[in-house]
This record gives sequence, structure tokens and C-alpha cells, in this order.
Amino acid sequence: MALLPIEKGPLNKILRSVSARIKKIDKKKLGKFFDDMRETMFEANGIGLAAPQVGVNERVVVCFFNNGSDHELIVEMVNPEIIERSDEMLVEEEGCLSLPGKFDKVARYENLTVKYMDRKGKEQVLQLNGLNARIVQHEVDHLEGKLYVDRVSQNHL
Ligand code: CO
Repeated sequence: MALLPIEKGPLNKILRSVSARIKKIDKKKLGKFFDDMRETMFEANGIGLAAPQVGVNERVVVCFFNNGSDHELIVEMVNPEIIERSDEMLVEEEGCLSLPGKFDKVARYENLTVKYMDRKGKEQVLQLNGLNARIVQHEVDHLEGKLYVDRVSQNHL
């Protein structure tokens, strides 16, 4: 495994690009990339990491759910898509490994359903709420070239 350098800054070109869908899974290459992303996320004390944050504009993310509970779970997602979401939103403080030292309150959907492929190319569906749903929304934003700071002003509308 290897630690990957993290792209930083609100104007970083890679962070601001829309990432491409993975069309064909190369299991060996993808497995190594997921291993490296997990190691990089843990080393940085993150609870989520998207491929553009390590310089790769592809639709791949790693999420660390239920952090600090007895049900900690790391989920690797290829081509994640939010296919359902609640009307209710929650405003909570958020940060990002690509914007170190900054935190602000962001409104996110409280519940959602996400569809994705795992590292073997098998389709998976997860229903999530609260912080776990927030992590997915934050990471999917990264794949669209969006950063949480773009959404901060919406809280004041
Ligand atoms: Co982030």
C-alpha cells in the first residue's frame, strides 16, 4: 500500500473537474487504488475520500461510516449515484481533507439511498442517514467538482 498525496485548495483544477465514470473495472488496479485510498484516508484522520482528492478524476470514493461506534464500516464505491433522498435536511459542521483547517455549517439531506458498484463490480444499494448520508453527499459532490464551501451560503437563504 502507499500513501497518496492529497490535492488541496478551493481553486485546484483537479478538485474542480467533473470526474469520469468507470466503464470497465480492472479488478487488480482498482483493488490497489482502493487500498491506497483507505490508507491515505486513515493517515489523514478522514471519514471519506474521493479519487480527485488524490489526483484522479474518476468516480471512485471511500466512506468511513459509523466512526467511533461498534459498527464502524468502510465502504468503497465505484460510480456512486444518489437515487433517492428525503425532503428533510440537516445543518451540521463539515470539513474536508482538501481544505485543511476550515469548517463550516452545511445543509445536507438527512436520508438517502445510494447505488454503486463495489471493487468486484457488483452492484450494491445502501440506505443511509445522518452523518453517513452526509459523507456520501460530500464525496459525490467531489466527483462533480464541487466543494462543501460552495454550499455554505445556502444555509443563509
Ligand atoms: Co472533501
